[in-house]
Amino acid sequence: MDDIPVILVAAGRGERAGAGLPKQYRQICGKPLLWWALRSLLACEGLGPIQIVINPEFKTLHEDVVAEFNLPAAVSGGATRQASVLAGLEALGSGNVAHVMIHDAARPFVSNDLVKRLRQSLGEGNDGAIPVVAMTDTVKRCHEGLVVETLDRSTLARAQTPQAFGFHAILAAHRAVVGTELTDDAAVAETAGLKVAAVTGDEGNSKVTTAEDFEIAAKRLGRTEIRVGTGLDVHAFAPGDHVMLCGIRIEHEATLDGDSDADVGLHVLVDAMLGAMGAGDLGVHFPVGDPAWKGRASSDLVAVACDLMRERQVRLVHADITLICQKPRLAIHQPAMKQKVSDLLNVDPSRVNIKVTSTDGLGFTGRGEGIAGQAAVTLEVPVPWD
Ligand code: CTP
Ligand code: MG
Repeated sequence: MDDIPVILVAAGRGERAGAGLPKQYRQICGKPLLWWALRSLLACEGLGPIQIVINPEFKTLHEDVVAEFNLPAAVSGGATRQASVLAGLEALGSGNVAHVMIHDAARPFVSNDLVKRLRQSLGEGNDGAIPVVAMTDTVKRCHEGLVVETLDRSTLARAQTPQAFGFHAILAAHRAVVGTELTDDAAVAETAGLKVAAVTGDEGNSKVTTAEDFEIAAKRLGRTEIRVGTGLDVHAFAPGDHVMLCGIRIEHEATLDGDSDADVGLHVLVDAMLGAMGAGDLGVHFPVGDPAWKGRASSDLVAVACDLMRERQVRLVHADITLICQKPRLAIHQPAMKQKVSDLLNVDPSRVNIKVTSTDGLGFTGRGEGIAGQAAVTLEVPVPWD
């Protein structure tokens, strides 16, 4: 069997999805719904050119979406889905076209296996083949808020698209029912007495109809990567009576020298967060000598990094901070530091780890000249689709 051309109807107004642009032009994970529908169709084998049917009011928007694909020019649809399908069928011409698949732009999850099952069913001599999924819930007929009767669900099924047909048969069937309002093409085929096979559908091939469906689709289509950033920092001791470490005040015979409160624990944390986001380092965001940051609590730096994460929809998976010094003794403060850091990051404490170590008297930390810190932060970062 040759490749089967597809009519992709995208001329609706998407009213049930709420106010705004028609749903096919609304974004899911950075791309319009129509783009996702095209992408899934183009990944299937055995499909021919894709003829899109649009509302000409949105022609410019449409051309932006399809610019990257090599498709026939879109044709204008009508006031109902049925009218739009007929416009698509007429545009395909009756020349050499033997079969056609008719698909909704609102379904972005078509699979190759489903297309294969439809092609196979057409090859078995049916006039048409449509995907159906079984009803698993008990089905009621209701009227004015009351249950009227329970239907026998064993004979009922939900119809999906793409729906496949012999081209001439479905074109004739559509031409014969112009002006009615049938919601799928199998219903049009029924009026002409065509033999339409019910092929096993795909629960995953859902239609995006409501605002909630957009959220579900975004979860299925979103791509993320795990990225790790590291931080390293050192501050020298200066005369004073306490140090700030991981947001906790610790009494000591000296303080740490620095522009801010010199919290080496939070500095390495922020540096590692920036690193994992590919967002530079502390020096870029909080320039040395900048009066705006002079004397500020380092928890403010954490807040800036958290804002950046929120803006980019980044999720913190884990933060591991190591403090390196001979004095003061820090082990007793570890639980408070862990709690403080998880509060600043607004994550469960299980996502934060604080380690402390001495260097056995060696090096500048061993000689008590200052405190060093290092951190590794793991983030889950959204990755755009190309
Ligand atoms: N469709 C169309 N022409 C119409 C109406 C619908 O091409 N006059 C298309 C839609 O763009 C969609 C498919 O038919 O891809 C299925 O219709 P539906 O999910 O009902 O979409 P809308 O009609 O746009 O949405 P709503 O019913 O919520 O307004
Ligand atoms: Mg509709």
